[in-house]
Amino acid sequence: MPKCVIDGREVEFAPGENLVEVAKRAGVNIPVFCYHPGLSVVAQCRMCAVEIEKMPKLQTACSTAATEGMAVKTQSERAIKNQKSIMEFLLLNHPLDCPICDKSGECDLQDQSYDYGSPYSRMTEEKRTYIDLDMGPVIVKNMNRCIHCTRCIRYGEQIAGIHEMVAIRRGNDTEITTIDGKPLQTAYAGNYADICPTGSLTLKDFRFKKRVWLLKRTATVCEGCARGCAMEAHAENNIVYRCVARENLEVNQYWLCDEGRFNFHYLHETDRVVEPAISSASGLVITEWKAAVDAAKATLKGRKALALIGSDLTQEEAKDIQEFIGKSFPGAPLLHFGTPGIHSAREDADEDKILKRKSKTSNLHGFEKLGLKGFESVPSGTEAVIVFRGGRAMLPKLPTLPTVGVGVFKKQEADKFATVLPGAAFAEKSGTIVNFQGREQKLVRAILPPGKSKALSEILMIWSHA
Ligand code: SF4
Ligand code: SF4
Ligand code: FES
Repeated sequence: MPKCVIDGREVEFAPGENLVEVAKRAGVNIPVFCYHPGLSVVAQCRMCAVEIEKMPKLQTACSTAATEGMAVKTQSERAIKNQKSIMEFLLLNHPLDCPICDKSGECDLQDQSYDYGSPYSRMTEEKRTYIDLDMGPVIVKNMNRCIHCTRCIRYGEQIAGIHEMVAIRRGNDTEITTIDGKPLQTAYAGNYADICPTGSLTLKDFRFKKRVWLLKRTATVCEGCARGCAMEAHAENNIVYRCVARENLEVNQYWLCDEGRFNFHYLHETDRVVEPAISSASGLVITEWKAAVDAAKATLKGRKALALIGSDLTQEEAKDIQEFIGKSFPGAPLLHFGTPGIHSAREDADEDKILKRKSKTSNLHGFEKLGLKGFESVPSGTEAVIVFRGGRAMLPKLPTLPTVGVGVFKKQEADKFATVLPGAAFAEKSGTIVNFQGREQKLVRAILPPGKSKALSEILMIWSHA
């Protein structure tokens, strides 16, 4: 492998790699604003300029490929002077509103102003201000904070596949906006907030809910479809406040769709059944675990049962259920469900040209590896049903039969069930799921199951010993 030298450290590089990435591997941080590894390089902000031996002018590290023997200085007098000048330039019009800005604590501009900026401003003119236009349901815009890095424009064109962000006017009056001020159209709008290096584009759903440094970050996987995008769940006090994309170049690169990003809300909905419940004349009533399990057993006893399993459950859960059904209900069919119209992995396909898959559950492909077959209709002679579900799989239409629900259900879904044994949803457990590429990925528990809900393995243990 060819080698170059960055701040005196020798480092190998792959041909074509830019200096920002090569320096990162050598443990040297080159500050950037406009550069993002998932977008085209425009070398616009000039923050990353470095000194390269034998080159008369500073060069932008994001747009310069490393070459054999190249000697780079990121901390030379000229490089430092440039960093300070760029910071002063970018902060000329920037309001002093970090304390009330939602990006505070994870803002590149804030972090780099500590490292490279001056505590004093020489600006005596009035700062420019903008009236903000609504950007639709996902993003809030505050153009006073924008540094015109154009990441958002490039993201729209190059990843979301829609030219909806533009820069209008020039110089001091430049403004980033949507074409004709229309709301954002893409179904991948949340990524605008992730990639904006300042608090100019923030999530309507999250802003002012929590300061980011209070959040515990758990690296997990989205359960929204068969792709299984890498994501982080951010939680405090057993509440998930947001999910953000995590880099996985083979699966989702740096992105999430909005459906997956905001899917977590059902975890905390007030109509979720979080205590064991049995049916009564006035609907479901809450009871103790033992009473509920006894009622579930009584419902199924002596009846020819059908077992349904949501393909939103993990491989470990599916194996436990296979064993449980084999022992407790020998001969009962065990069939998976999850997305209307998709009964097997063969029917799953790309839903768009970006990330989304047609299967709206995360583990359809894993279930087929376990030999499970898809549910299409209720076998004749069925007298009772037991349904296992993680929360995301869509319940199929079932005839009115005595039914036991194990897992995550809304009150209105479970209203006609004989018994509900409440379980854990995707952020409340750890386990393995298999995506459409056949990759085994790990769900990691970010919070505990709410109320009296329990992990499936615990529920099955109570059942076996009750
Ligand atoms: S809105 Fe954010 S991402 Fe877009 S140009 Fe301004 S600072 Fe960059
Ligand atoms: S594409 Fe699928 S896995 Fe990825 S974020 Fe969207 S719903 Fe989640
Ligand atoms: S990061 Fe290199 S010019 Fe902006």
